[in-house]
Amino acid sequence: MKVVLASDHGGFELAKEIEAFLGELGVEVNNIGCDSKESCDYSDYGIPAAEKVAAGEYDRGIVICGTGIGMSISANKVKGIRCALTHDVYTARVTREHNDSNVLALGARVIGVDLAKEIVKTWIGGEFEGGRHERRINKIHDYETK
Ligand code: RB5
Repeated sequence: MKVVLASDHGGFELAKEIEAFLGELGVEVNNIGCDSKESCDYSDYGIPAAEKVAAGEYDRGIVICGTGIGMSISANKVKGIRCALTHDVYTARVTREHNDSNVLALGARVIGVDLAKEIVKTWIGGEFEGGRHERRINKIHDYETK
């Protein structure tokens, strides 16, 4: 699996932790986020990351800012992206099973590093269940492509 990772300054340190953690999990990761804790704009990083997932360059994306909200709003503006802002393990699992989320958003100022890693591990390993859930996400696809 290939994952594109992006953060703004608020997510910079957590992104570094998640980058290393994905490597430990054997996941290929490319961090295209900001390169310091200097203030920057989450949209400059979240939108390009989401575009790369939508274009099929990466299987999944993980976007991190202070709350995760700016990144999730940005990513969800890109057609074909289903970005889930997730701060618990249950939601991380179910958003893969039900929503086939292809981007995960995290808030570095909301959760700690260990929980973020558990969420990432669960989300990376989660499988879409299809069936009625496929019908629902197809309706989102139909709306955004009409
Ligand atoms: C940056 O201060 C902060 O606003 C940003 O990281 C994010 O939380 C926005 O949603």
